[in-house]
Amino acid sequence: MSSPTLTFNKAPIVLLRGEPLLLYTTEHRTLLAALEARKVSIFSECRSGFCGACKTRVRSGAVTYLTTPLAELQADECLPCCCVPTEDLDLDLSSEGADMPLLRVKHLA
Ligand code: FES
Repeated sequence: MSSPTLTFNKAPIVLLRGEPLLLYTTEHRTLLAALEARKVSIFSECRSGFCGACKTRVRSGAVTYLTTPLAELQADECLPCCCVPTEDLDLDLSSEGADMPLLRVKHLA
Protein backbone atom coordinates (compact mmCIF):
# COMPACT_ATOMS: atom_id res chain seq x y z
CA MET A 1 0.00 0.00 0.00
CA SER A 2 1.44 3.42 -0.86
CA SER A 3 1.21 6.42 1.45
CA PRO A 4 -0.66 9.52 0.34
CA THR A 5 1.43 12.44 -0.86
CA LEU A 6 1.10 15.35 1.54
CA THR A 7 1.60 18.98 0.69
CA PHE A 8 1.13 21.84 3.11
CA ASN A 9 0.36 25.49 2.39
CA LYS A 10 1.95 26.17 5.79
CA ALA A 11 3.81 23.72 8.00
CA PRO A 12 1.43 22.76 10.82
CA ILE A 13 2.54 23.72 14.32
CA VAL A 14 2.36 20.87 16.82
CA LEU A 15 1.67 22.03 20.36
CA LEU A 16 1.62 20.21 23.70
CA ARG A 17 -1.18 21.62 25.86
CA GLY A 18 -0.83 24.97 24.14
CA GLU A 19 2.98 25.08 24.16
CA PRO A 20 4.52 25.09 20.64
CA LEU A 21 6.78 22.09 20.07
CA LEU A 22 7.64 21.93 16.38
CA LEU A 23 6.74 22.76 12.81
CA TYR A 24 5.69 19.50 11.21
CA THR A 25 7.36 18.69 7.91
CA THR A 26 7.43 15.49 5.90
CA GLU A 27 10.98 14.98 7.22
CA HIS A 28 9.25 12.79 9.82
CA ARG A 29 7.20 9.98 8.41
CA THR A 30 4.59 10.09 11.20
CA LEU A 31 3.46 12.37 13.99
CA LEU A 32 4.90 9.83 16.45
CA ALA A 33 8.33 10.06 14.81
CA ALA A 34 8.21 13.86 15.03
CA LEU A 35 7.22 13.71 18.71
CA GLU A 36 9.93 11.20 19.53
CA ALA A 37 12.54 13.32 17.76
CA ARG A 38 11.66 16.06 20.28
CA LYS A 39 11.88 13.61 23.19
CA VAL A 40 8.16 13.74 23.94
CA SER A 41 7.21 10.90 26.26
CA ILE A 42 4.57 8.86 24.45
CA PHE A 43 3.86 5.16 24.79
CA SER A 44 3.69 3.01 21.66
CA GLU A 45 3.73 -0.66 20.76
CA CYS A 46 2.66 -1.76 17.27
CA ARG A 47 3.42 1.58 15.56
CA SER A 48 0.92 0.71 12.85
CA GLY A 49 -2.50 1.77 14.14
CA PHE A 50 -3.49 -1.63 15.46
CA CYS A 51 -3.06 -1.71 19.24
CA GLY A 52 -4.20 1.77 20.28
CA ALA A 53 -1.29 2.18 22.72
CA CYS A 54 -0.32 5.60 21.36
CA LYS A 55 -3.88 6.95 21.52
CA THR A 56 -3.66 10.69 22.26
CA ARG A 57 -6.35 13.28 22.91
CA VAL A 58 -6.47 16.15 20.42
CA ARG A 59 -7.30 19.51 22.03
CA SER A 60 -7.61 21.22 18.65
CA GLY A 61 -6.59 20.64 15.06
CA ALA A 62 -6.83 17.73 12.68
CA VAL A 63 -4.82 14.81 11.36
CA THR A 64 -4.93 12.51 8.38
CA TYR A 65 -4.05 8.84 8.48
CA LEU A 66 -1.31 7.28 6.38
CA THR A 67 -2.97 3.90 6.86
CA THR A 68 -6.48 3.22 8.10
CA PRO A 69 -6.23 2.73 11.88
CA LEU A 70 -7.75 -0.45 13.29
CA ALA A 71 -7.82 0.75 16.92
CA GLU A 72 -11.10 2.29 18.04
CA LEU A 73 -10.95 6.07 18.46
CA GLN A 74 -13.13 8.77 19.97
CA ALA A 75 -13.74 11.90 17.92
CA ASP A 76 -11.13 13.82 19.94
CA GLU A 77 -8.38 11.18 19.76
CA CYS A 78 -5.65 10.31 17.27
CA LEU A 79 -3.03 7.61 16.79
CA PRO A 80 0.27 9.43 16.27
CA CYS A 81 1.99 6.27 14.99
CA CYS A 82 0.05 6.36 11.74
CA CYS A 83 -1.08 9.94 11.21
CA VAL A 84 0.26 13.37 10.35
CA PRO A 85 -1.17 16.79 11.19
CA THR A 86 -3.07 18.61 8.43
CA GLU A 87 -3.31 21.87 10.38
CA ASP A 88 -1.99 23.26 13.64
CA LEU A 89 -2.45 20.52 16.20
CA ASP A 90 -2.63 20.84 19.98
CA LEU A 91 -2.17 17.51 21.75
CA ASP A 92 -3.02 16.67 25.34
CA LEU A 93 0.52 15.53 26.14
CA SER A 94 2.91 16.74 28.81
CA SER A 95 5.90 18.76 27.68
CA GLU A 96 7.91 17.54 30.69
CA GLY A 97 11.28 16.29 29.43
CA ALA A 98 10.54 17.29 25.84
CA ASP A 99 12.93 19.33 23.73
CA MET A 100 10.86 22.51 23.25
CA PRO A 101 13.06 24.82 21.12
CA LEU A 102 10.15 27.05 20.12
CA LEU A 103 9.65 27.97 23.78
CA ARG A 104 13.21 28.94 24.64
CA VAL A 105 12.43 32.66 24.79
CA LYS A 106 12.99 34.21 28.19
CA HIS A 107 11.03 37.25 29.22
CA LEU A 108 13.24 39.75 30.97
CA ALA A 109 11.69 42.29 33.31
S1 FES B 1 1.39 2.23 18.70
FE1 FES B 1 -0.22 0.82 18.30
S2 FES B 1 -1.77 2.11 17.51
FE2 FES B 1 -0.09 3.46 17.74
